[in-house]
Amino acid sequence: MRESLLFDSATWLIWFAPFVGVLAAGLSKRRDPAVEGDRVFRHDVPARITHWTHGIGTMMLLISGIALGLFFTPALVERAQGVWTWMNVHFVFVVMFLFGTFYYGANTLLAAHRFREHLPTKNAIDYTKRHYGLLLGFKKFTFPPESKYFESEKMAYLLALASTVVIILTGLVKVAAHALDMPAGLMGVITPLHDIATVAMLAFFLAHVFFAAVLPMSWPVLRSMFTGYVSLEHAKHEHAGWLEELGYAKADE
Ligand code: HEM
Ligand code: HEM
Repeated sequence: MRESLLFDSATWLIWFAPFVGVLAAGLSKRRDPAVEGDRVFRHDVPARITHWTHGIGTMMLLISGIALGLFFTPALVERAQGVWTWMNVHFVFVVMFLFGTFYYGANTLLAAHRFREHLPTKNAIDYTKRHYGLLLGFKKFTFPPESKYFESEKMAYLLALASTVVIILTGLVKVAAHALDMPAGLMGVITPLHDIATVAMLAFFLAHVFFAAVLPMSWPVLRSMFTGYVSLEHAKHEHAGWLEELGYAKADE
């Protein structure tokens, strides 16, 4: 039996998912980080939901997109049936990704300070040099008083942000092309842009997963992406600047 192409038969879900994301942001109550005894509250429930829907969505979109083939790589699937299946996988995770990303975007508009804490500061180069210099064994460096997010993480955030915006805008045009007759010239720009953003996203994704999940030093924050908490000990060592912002370091020492 011929499988139906969800990009054609269930297009409405693509327009519905962002709407549900924005609605979820409107209904969410955010909880700010705080020191609670020997733990520090780091990621509230909306942060965890948006991160995992966006993150798992991205992972599966990378896999399905690469299987379909970028404009400069061969498709890994050849038979029509295989292409349709991977397009349907792409569709399902586009819906998840759009929900997570619009939920995150609307949350961010509602609380601009949560966006600012992701942006690099004037300390970006100095802290990153010290942080990774020390990790590489150069004893002359001292661990910098990083804020909630490492300065290196903040630089990578800009790459993730830019690729997300380009991928969504070009993706929506690609969806529209399923229903409308788009000029070939326009699609000749849109598809390479979708694919260049894919390469940028892949670079971010591999680096992010390595530094945020594979390296044992990141396991405490990996756990907090599920439980919400890191230990106070961990925060003292890795995020002294953040603890100070939370009013802890000064009061305690
Ligand atoms: C991390 C996110 C994403 C990645 C890595 C990604 C990657 C890709 C890749 C590599 C392809 C195959 C090559 C091409 O046709 O350009 C593709 C196709 C496609 N993508 Fe994405 N994509 C993502 C998100 C999205 C989003 C958010 C949408 C819709 C809003 C979308 C819609 C489409 C469509 C409609 C196709 C073409 C299917 C067809 O041939 O008709 N993608 N994507
Ligand atoms: C599915 C694989 C992924 C894993 C295992 C993973 C893991 C993590 C972990 C452990 C953290 C916590 C870091 C911390 O608290 O400092 C984190 C945070 C973050 N990740 Fe991921 N991630 C994944 C995918 C992604 C993707 C694809 C993106 C974006 C394109 C992303 C963007 C972010 C951002 C922006 C934060 C900070 C979240 C916040 O506002 O608290 N992650 N990730």
